Amino acid sequence: MTSSTLPPLDLNNVQGDILAGLPKKTQTYFFFLIDKSRIQEFRTQLANLIPLITTTAQVFGHQEAISKNKTDAAKHGVPPSLLKISGVNIVFSQKGLTKMGINDNIGDAAFSKGMLEDAPTLGDPGTATSDSPDWVPAFKQGVDGMILVSGESHSTVAEKLAEIERIFFVGAPFATIHEALRIVGDVRPGKEKGHEQFVSLLSPQESQPLTSDHSFGFLDGISQPAIKGVNLTTNPGQESVNPGVTILGREGDLNINANPNVPIHRPSWALDGSFLAFRYLFQLVPEFDTFLKRNPVPGLAPDHGSELLGARMVGRWMSGAPIDLAPTQDNPALGADPSRNNNFRYDFPDDAQTQDRCPFAAHTRKTNPRADFEALTPESKPVPGPLSTSNRRIIRRGIQFGPEVSPEEARSGKTIHGRGLLFAAYQSNIENGFQFLQQSWANNPAFIFGKPVSPGFDPIIGQNAAGARSMVGTNPTSQSTSLPLPTWVVPKGGEYFFSPSIPALKTTFALA
Ligand code: HEM
Repeated sequence: MTSSTLPPLDLNNVQGDILAGLPKKTQTYFFFLIDKSRIQEFRTQLANLIPLITTTAQVFGHQEAISKNKTDAAKHGVPPSLLKISGVNIVFSQKGLTKMGINDNIGDAAFSKGMLEDAPTLGDPGTATSDSPDWVPAFKQGVDGMILVSGESHSTVAEKLAEIERIFFVGAPFATIHEALRIVGDVRPGKEKGHEQFVSLLSPQESQPLTSDHSFGFLDGISQPAIKGVNLTTNPGQESVNPGVTILGREGDLNINANPNVPIHRPSWALDGSFLAFRYLFQLVPEFDTFLKRNPVPGLAPDHGSELLGARMVGRWMSGAPIDLAPTQDNPALGADPSRNNNFRYDFPDDAQTQDRCPFAAHTRKTNPRADFEALTPESKPVPGPLSTSNRRIIRRGIQFGPEVSPEEARSGKTIHGRGLLFAAYQSNIENGFQFLQQSWANNPAFIFGKPVSPGFDPIIGQNAAGARSMVGTNPTSQSTSLPLPTWVVPKGGEYFFSPSIPALKTTFALA
């Protein structure tokens, strides 16, 4: 069946985290191993989990309810109360599929190998000198699957997870799945909501972070692709991509690293599923802060210089304002305005050859080079394929974990408590998506190609297992000066998963 002869995409068939994103203040990632002696029982019990799985259509309903609740509260001049809403999704690794006896080739080599085998390709620490990355044991041993449970509160998530554990008798001698690892992610508190952990940029007098949904303090989750036919309204500057960039079997499900004109052979049960790249990323926030303080962009007041350095490394100010639009000074109103905060393409006349506005290596520019990529000639492109970033787009659904920076950590500039990002990204092809962004763009000092100077590493996520990292362009007045970069994002594990459609769960994964 080709994508043009398929019935239209039904949002009741797609797990809710992929295209809509489970609403969450907190999310538990329950990684599990299927008991080898109880595989058939597990598959029978799986049928009882399916009614609990939140679909995309349901998530859109939840989002409407949340939005209405906010509007109603505003009408009454009161702060909105949190609606009790939980979400459940389930995903499987290749190991899990194999254990269940689902052996058809799904058509994604990275998924089939698993992330552990990919760790050297990704540049993970430890892989330069040994076959084994410096990961936590559960991910080195491998997991069969993961259940995501989200909610507005820890008690809602705990309640839902307990219900799920009862289905599989988790903890009992006859359990069909065993917990391999449980990780809890939480949206950051107060004004830090929506901001990643990085940068607490403590001023000397205060022990409260100045910053605001990522852990270095930068507003995250701004730039996501819109899916044609699903996201009916888009924000200015938001790229619309074919559903097949995220959803298997749909229009645009291509391997542009191989031959984009040859459809990928997928088993019929793969239709309307998606691949999830999960990474357990620790962030060294106090160390990042200290680096910013010690290396302010010269010629400015120190705090401004430090903030500008952070903004030039990320490509956005902590408020979310893109530096391509606000190159010298943060503009929080711009950062908070969805009609303007993603409306840029690195295509100002001075953008292509200078770093006056944004360094070529800035995290957002490396991971989505927008007009820069389209400007590359076919000869200077690393792989054949359409001159567009659209098949490289991923949908990011991560959440932060770990506590806020303590006063002691802020004073010493040293991390004591583990914190970071539970990075989770969906795509129809891992080699075109996450793996490519990490390996061929972030870790490749020569990318973005065709620039007057080699850009260096993505300062946030670029990895060089074998040695040092640096980038150019942090100082707008000396754009070829290279700045050595310590490492602040440390991967401690992860896995590639497949998120099956609801019909596939019913007919292929679960047993009647
Ligand atoms: C702890 C690690 C990470 C941090 C702190 C981080 C931080 C950020 C921030 C602050 C933004 C800007 C907000 C936005 O545009 O939505 C962003 C955007 C983005 N990040 Fe990350 N990120 C991390 C890991 C990753 C990884 C591992 C990848 C993929 C390999 C990635 C890919 C992207 C992409 C594709 C964008 C959107 C760029 C755009 O469209 O302009 N990030 N990240």
